[in-house]
Amino acid sequence: MARGELFLAALCVVVASALAANADARKMVGVYELRKGDFSVKVTNWGATIMSVILPDSKGNLADVVLGRDTVAQYVNDTSFFGPVAGRVAQRIAQGRFVLDGKVYHLNINDGRNTLQGGGRGFHKVIWTVREYVCAGDSPYITLYYRSFDGEQGFPGNLDVHVTYRVSSPYTLGVHMNATALDKATPVNLLQHTYWNLGGHGSGDVLGHALRLAASRYTPLDGEMLPSSGRVAPVAGTPFDFRAPTPIGARIRQVMGGRVVGYDANYVVDGEPGRMRPVAAVRDGASGRALELWGNQPCVQLYTANWLNHTEGKGGEVYDRWAGFCLETQGYPDAVNHPEFPSQILRHGQVYRHDMVFKLSF
Ligand SMILES: *[C@@H]1O[C@H](CO)[C@@H](O)[C@H](O)[C@H]1NC(C)=O
Ligand SMILES: *[C@@H]1O[C@H](CO)[C@@H](O)[C@H](O)[C@H]1NC(C)=O
Ligand SMILES: *[C@@H]1O[C@H](CO)[C@@H](O)[C@H](O)[C@H]1NC(C)=O
Repeated sequence: MARGELFLAALCVVVASALAANADARKMVGVYELRKGDFSVKVTNWGATIMSVILPDSKGNLADVVLGRDTVAQYVNDTSFFGPVAGRVAQRIAQGRFVLDGKVYHLNINDGRNTLQGGGRGFHKVIWTVREYVCAGDSPYITLYYRSFDGEQGFPGNLDVHVTYRVSSPYTLGVHMNATALDKATPVNLLQHTYWNLGGHGSGDVLGHALRLAASRYTPLDGEMLPSSGRVAPVAGTPFDFRAPTPIGARIRQVMGGRVVGYDANYVVDGEPGRMRPVAAVRDGASGRALELWGNQPCVQLYTANWLNHTEGKGGEVYDRWAGFCLETQGYPDAVNHPEFPSQILRHGQVYRHDMVFKLSF
């Protein structure tokens, strides 16, 4: 072990024992690094947010391949959704309203007349408790916990939520999210909203990255980004077809994500939901870096950072539209208002489980 690593390992033990001894320390907002050799992931318990992912390229040059901000304070008022977990129900809910067991629920409205990403103060804007933190060794990880209360942003029932980020060899980042309905039935649909740019977070746009999606179908969205038709349509013959590796930019100007140009689309992942299966593969020819995503959710949202517009980023960088891509595994959007989609209702005592594995390489 190099001297730097020894120092880090010692620091890690100090942090971990401070956490174990002190309940308040677990709730203090902090930055937690998971390190394995030259692979490093930084996380904050503000919004269960991934702040950075650093790895080499084929020439050995290290780069941070996720977009974000330098300090946790800058995430507090951030509206770009750099890296957090979204919930209790991610994506949009039409008119912030749904009916469950005969009762009408009204949610916080924060996107036109609809609810987006669980409301203005969703899981991305709360402090999570650090349950466990192991910063180095064979498989460094952090487990974050949040108790969402009955009525929070309008959702019914108390809900226990855990998110674990785990780093393992070679250059693998695992995300495990679970939720337990403690007293009432409630919809649950979490997602992880990291923006990736395999060339490095300030390296320009991702239009040249080649993307393959294991998805032959998608849910067309309307101008409000809602699946109002309830249709599931084939991607064949549309600019949404990424079944063969295709540059993200090849047809991007033909698609609208609401009012802006670019992908903001929900795909139905091929294969059996509930099982880990390949979702996507992305490759940046220039740096030689690649990312493979596996997941167990029914769907995945492809978002190409269409709303970034000279947005302030880390290290003095400025991000413009298409500066990154998000691959957010999830349930069907607005499923609470679409009985034709698989249900997202978690009954009292039931457990929701969501797994993602990002396999990076170069
Ligand atoms: C966030 O915005 C509020 C309201 O505008 C402001 O009072 C606060 O200082 C801001 N916080 C940060 C960390 O910028
Ligand atoms: C949820 O995840 C946490 C952390 O990984 C784990 O400790 C807990 O047992 C899980 N809960 C359930 C109900 O599976
Ligand atoms: C980007 O910002 C500029 C300057 O504020 C503004 O004029 C333009 O309309 C914005 N573009 C989008 C797509 O929001």
